[in-house]
Amino acid sequence: MTSRSQNETPRPPGFVYRKTKRGILRREGPSVLFCENVSLQELAEQYGTPLYVYSAAMIRERYDAFDAAFRGQPRTICYSVKANSNLTLLRLLAKRGCGFDVVSGGELERVLAADRKAANKVVFSGVGKTREELTAALKAGILLFNVESESELWALAECAGRLHKTAPLALRVNPDVAAETHPYISTGLRKHKFGVPISEARALYAKASGARQLKARGVSVHIGSQITDVAPFGEAMERVAYLVRELRGDGHRIDYIDAGGGLGIAYENANGLEFSAIVTAYARALAGPLRGLDVRLLLEPGRSIVGPAGVLVTSVIYRKENDGKRFLVVDAAMNDLIRPALYGAYHQIVPVTRRAGSSRNELQKCELTDVVGPVCETGDFFARDRELPVVDEGDRLAILDAGAYGMVLASNYNTRPRPAEVLVTGKSVKLIRRREKVSDLFRAEV
Ligand code: LLP
Repeated sequence: MTSRSQNETPRPPGFVYRKTKRGILRREGPSVLFCENVSLQELAEQYGTPLYVYSAAMIRERYDAFDAAFRGQPRTICYSVKANSNLTLLRLLAKRGCGFDVVSGGELERVLAADRKAANKVVFSGVGKTREELTAALKAGILLFNVESESELWALAECAGRLHKTAPLALRVNPDVAAETHPYISTGLRKHKFGVPISEARALYAKASGARQLKARGVSVHIGSQITDVAPFGEAMERVAYLVRELRGDGHRIDYIDAGGGLGIAYENANGLEFSAIVTAYARALAGPLRGLDVRLLLEPGRSIVGPAGVLVTSVIYRKENDGKRFLVVDAAMNDLIRPALYGAYHQIVPVTRRAGSSRNELQKCELTDVVGPVCETGDFFARDRELPVVDEGDRLAILDAGAYGMVLASNYNTRPRPAEVLVTGKSVKLIRRREKVSDLFRAEV
């Protein structure tokens, strides 16, 4: 949600409230949350809830802002497919010239299904790539393998040899840089499973250069996700830049630095800095260490491109009160959006329709409440003791910033079919994934 006034301009980029009109006299109705030019109330009625809604304009705008921040630096943005892998969104980004970061054979297949020609802009990360996955990626002709261990190096050489190909690779180094984020999504410390210690990288590059099926072309790094201070990115890049100079001194041809992803978004205070300012600060933090290096920079943003561009719309099933503690039981649950349950993550929640108070300018009354789903776990909550406008049973709520790590992490726990997804572009709405049916969930069972 942006901080615009309610008397909005006709073409907002993402999610904003707009005053509606009602009746023949077109009296002023309540404010309704819109995605671009489409009311979320109407979308909920048409497609049902829970429902993921994405704004195409916002995704494009954020991708463009990201790209513009690195103007002057040879770069390829490889959107991190894991954040949201819907084929339509991948196609939208591919049309803008975006590349992709994949972490499985499945994600690679998605990218190829979205756009065959994108293969040469794909980087493949992950600590456990199987030989089948390595082979599929070699056949597709991807840009770069981000290799995370010596064993993987030899597996890659073996697969490449069998296909009579040379595998372009970067070692993912672990820079031992601390970044403040949730411990489950911090990756850049020695104790983490990711990458190879930066101190051992030179020796491994030397070993790789002995195998003719391997061609070391870059160095990659990724220190974690949802990082909102740009300093650790700069620190990691300092260490990588130092390594690149050493490697070149050793005779390796290093053309790429893959800086990974991880730039955080403002879940709690969405009215803070504009995205372009944040991404410009991020670009500056990386630019210092890169000066004079003459490399192509690869970037793997996920959340920062799609996170704020999606919401999860849900309906209130019941209001209940236990010994004075209030609950809104909604029809979305931890299986639809697991971030609050898994990381204690905060997501803003707003009513889709804002009722006016009794007098014209009075705001809707608020109450302290939990917002919980129907799943049989205490961890199934979206908010605890949250001050929210009073809503009734049947009313809709929008859980904001759900575009990244929302639908991709959805499961069928409690045999709950996963939500539908729609993409809004201006006035037009496209169903980009139909709601699952219970029968879909039985299909693979024998
Ligand atoms: N590159 C690599 C190698 C990664 O491991 C990740 C994320 C990214 C790029 C993209 O990071 P982003 O720009 O989206 O921060 N499920 C968690 C986030 C897990 C991130 C895993 N790796 C969450 O909901 O917060």
